[in-house]
Order: sequence, then C-alpha cells, then structure tokens
Amino acid sequence: MSSLGLLLLLLLAPLPLQPSSLPPPDTPEGKAAITGLILSALERATSFLKKRLPEVNLDGVVGFRVLEVQLKGVQEEWAWDPPLQPLTLRVGKLVDELAPLLHGSVFYLKLSDPKYLREFQPTIQPGFWKLPQAWTRTNASMVYPTVEPQDSFSEEHSDSCLVQLLGTRGDGSQPCRLSDFCRTLMSKPGCSGYCLSHQLLFFLSARMKGCTEGLFHQTQHYMHLFCANMMDLNRRAEAIGYAYPTRDLFMENIMLCGISGFSDFYKLRWLEAILSWQKPQEGCFGRPAAEDEELSKAVQHQQHFLRRVKRREKQFTDGCSSHNTAMAVAALGGFLYALAEYPPANGERRLYTPAPPNGH
Ligand SMILES: *[C@@H]1O[C@H](CO)[C@@H](O)[C@H](O)[C@H]1NC(C)=O
Repeated sequence: MSSLGLLLLLLLAPLPLQPSSLPPPDTPEGKAAITGLILSALERATSFLKKRLPEVNLDGVVGFRVLEVQLKGVQEEWAWDPPLQPLTLRVGKLVDELAPLLHGSVFYLKLSDPKYLREFQPTIQPGFWKLPQAWTRTNASMVYPTVEPQDSFSEEHSDSCLVQLLGTRGDGSQPCRLSDFCRTLMSKPGCSGYCLSHQLLFFLSARMKGCTEGLFHQTQHYMHLFCANMMDLNRRAEAIGYAYPTRDLFMENIMLCGISGFSDFYKLRWLEAILSWQKPQEGCFGRPAAEDEELSKAVQHQQHFLRRVKRREKQFTDGCSSHNTAMAVAALGGFLYALAEYPPANGERRLYTPAPPNGH
C-alpha cells in the first residue's frame, strides 16, 4: 500500500467503538489485574528480545530502553505500597533482565550498522529518555483541516535533522543547532503518518537533550500540535478496526505522545487492543498469523510501504517485527506507568475508559 493508500484507509468511515472487557482500573483488584496482564505481555516480549538480540535493530533497542525507564518509574511509585509487593517484584525482575540485554545490544549494533549506531547512540544510552514531568491532554481544535500529500517526507532528511540535533555528525558541530532546512521540515504543518510522528520524535528528542533555544522555545506548542493530530489518526485507526497496516503507527503514536505527557493516549480499550496483538508463542508483535487473501495483500503493500519509509525496519520470517515489538513494549510500559502513577486512591482516573470521539 502506498502511503497515500494508508492515509486513505485512515480517513475512511468510522465503525462503532467496542466496549472494553478489561476490568475497570479504579479498584485495587482491577488495577492489579490489568497490571498483571501488562507485565505478562512485557515478560514475553523481553524473552523475545533475549532470544533474538543479535537481530534486533537500533529502533528496537530504543523501545526497550524507554520501557526500562518506565519500569523504574513504576518501581519508585510502588516502593511504599506493601499490597503491590508481588507485582513490584515482577517489575524488578524485568528491570534486572533488561539491563544486561540493552548493554549487550550495542555489540551487535556495532556489527550490523556502525554508522547508524554512532549517529544515534545517545538515544539508546541510559539516562536519555525521561518520564513526563507533567501530564496534559490533546486539544482537538488543533487538528489540521487538511493534510499535505506525504510524498515529500523522507526518512533520510528526517534522520539527518535528528543527527544535527543530537550533535553526532562527527564534524565538531554542537547539539541543538539547526539548519534552516531542518527548522522548516520539522515544524511544517500538515504532516500525517510517519512524517508527523517523526516531527514529534524530533521535538521530544530536543526536550530529552535539553535544547531550549530558538525553535525549541516552542517545543510544548509543537508537541500539542503534533499529538492532537496523532490522536486524530489513532482514532481513525481504531474506527477501521486497527487494520494491520495501521498498527505500527498507532503504537508509535501512543509511545511518543505518552512519553510527551499526553495522558489521553492511555485509553483502556487501546490497551486491550495492543495486548491482543502479541504473538503468544514468540512474544513479539508483527504480522497477524491468520489473514484472509485481502489482508495478506494489504500486508505485502504495507511491507513495501515500510521499506520505503522505515528502511531499518526488520521483519523476521516468523512475522515478528523488531519495530512493531519495540513500539508495543514502550506503549505498554507507558500504560503501566500511567496506571501506577495515578492510583485511584487519589480520586483521579488515569486510564481513560470509553470517551468516544466526537464528530469523526
Ligand atoms: C485548544 O486550542 C485552541 C486553538 O489553538 C485554543 O483556542 C483553546 O484555548 C485550546 N483549549 C484548551 C483547553 O487548551
């Protein structure tokens, strides 16, 4: 499917929303049950990482690095909560398992793509990713009335702007400095799909890196703009029943906007959908196993599309996808953290139970 095709798919007619069958998160029992489900999924995904470490690419490692930070955040939240002891122990075990894997991944990335590793190494280093300082919600009035054709989006350009930002070009240039080209590309309105998520990733990385000058005076504004549009895309993905080609972007949007502090991406029914996509045997996320002819065709198109847009995507022969799995674990880690950080005892609900979209 061309990126235009994907976009059309996203823009097509809505279906009725499914009610969630997960227990409500606002009782201690419900919360513990949901937490247990997320942890089981993350334990299986970590086994996948362990087994396939030599084959996992850098984007894959980024997802698990983000997960590690989220798990540590959960540990801190629960440190003083005795009833949560068994769950805290499971979180601690996962953290202990992840640390050596993440450390070891650098060895393999050096072998497979040393240039990409050198340029993006900061994003897989401990301490780069941080949890949101404050929570906010998206504002639907910032959704673009129309979107630009996507043909102009190039991953190469977007990568080179990120390298500029990180200051890893190796020519002595400083982090946080931008060319006019990158300033325009990364802030231009009207993007959709991966163009939009890469724009957000750019500003999110700037925040993680501590860039505050020039364009980055307005980091929060751009995050609001991009996440409002990413929310709109996710609702469209849900409305078409999460057709496989949309899932990767759907989870990427939850991971990126979630860690940017937009709590309305943590919807219970979205959590339930993501949990249902994990391959029980492999523990990974990727191409669905049972597909009819039609879907299978769409997937082939999708792979063509991913090759064009995400050239470092790695699809394993068993249908596991390194990128899909990475986005899934970082999205799930975000749900876990959101659930842990706002216990119902505070009288606040963090996981959004049905809040159907208006007017799409
Ligand atoms: C949402 O965005 C619009 C337009 O930018 C603004 O006027 C409005 O105040 C915002 N609403 C909230 C709740 O921030």
